[in-house]
Amino acid sequence: MDSSDAGFAAGVVAWHRQHGRHDLPWQGGRDPYAVWVSEIMLQQTRVAAVIPYYCRFMARFPDIATLAVAAEDDVLRHWSGLGYYARARNLHAAARAIVGRHAGEFPRDPAAIATLPGIGRSTAAAIAAFAFGVRGAILDGNVKRVLARCFGVEGWPGQPAVQRRLWALAERLLPEGGIESYTQGLMDLGAAVCTRARPACAGCPLAQRCVALREGRVAGLPWPKPRRALPQKRTVMLLLCRGNEILLEKRPPSGLWGGLWSLPEAEPGADAEEVARLRYGVEAEVLPPLSPQEHALTHFRLLVIPQPLLVVSAHLVQEPCALWLDRHDAVDAAVPAPVRKILRQMPDLG
Ligand code: ADE
Repeated sequence: MDSSDAGFAAGVVAWHRQHGRHDLPWQGGRDPYAVWVSEIMLQQTRVAAVIPYYCRFMARFPDIATLAVAAEDDVLRHWSGLGYYARARNLHAAARAIVGRHAGEFPRDPAAIATLPGIGRSTAAAIAAFAFGVRGAILDGNVKRVLARCFGVEGWPGQPAVQRRLWALAERLLPEGGIESYTQGLMDLGAAVCTRARPACAGCPLAQRCVALREGRVAGLPWPKPRRALPQKRTVMLLLCRGNEILLEKRPPSGLWGGLWSLPEAEPGADAEEVARLRYGVEAEVLPPLSPQEHALTHFRLLVIPQPLLVVSAHLVQEPCALWLDRHDAVDAAVPAPVRKILRQMPDLG
């Protein structure tokens, strides 16, 4: 740690002294069980929502031994409404493990704490800091955001290399003493000031040293989780052209683009002339396909291959849900956006 690192911790601690909360039901004591229950409840839930649950839970299960012998249903009932019920099941299993493996005594060593169900490295360090004053680094989601912004760490924090860098920073910044205020201050700063959206940089004790703020990159850090590539589906859309008119077809009422007018579709590789003849009673000649277009939908990417066909003759019988429309009117009809785009870009086939 250099003097600049010391300034980081000092800023966090001073801010916490002035602006942090010090009167929460789980604060002020050093009962590791109370600290543990609160940390688990606070993992995915805001302080204000946790308070009533915490009080009811502690009234019913005041210590490890009581929790260990409770029926799981009873534990879940007291968790009901908080969500993420694996937390309650793990808490219950961990209480039994503490009775079985540690003679009912909550372990002090963060590495031992981290072997209990539902407790990761960061939560173990937080419990050890609050309950026993043990010096150790935390790195929950809020702290990752503070560090990524303050030190301009690029990359998605879930990526192992980025995670390693953030843990190294978290370790390097640890103050020699006052681990409880520093740990709580860092958590509160991430939750109340260095928020994901609209952070309150004007009130941040780290603003002077924040790389993201200096470089105008606060909104861009940390990097979000990369979006998983959605599967691609392909379809051929038939542009059946009869003079100025084009054939549209009404889609079924439910499903993708339900009830909209759209272009007739065929499987890629299908004989488009045959589809036109058999399905629509239209004799047509295929023209060269237009450039494929990809459209992002909610659950997949749709690659549309627009296939123009010049209609030579059409039988009189028409599908009830098919309609010849002037091309210009079709653009303004109730068609899906990708179809409108294709209709707009379609060259004049004369
Ligand atoms: N989230 C996890 N632990 C917390 C704590 N001790 N205070 C506020 N938010 C938290």
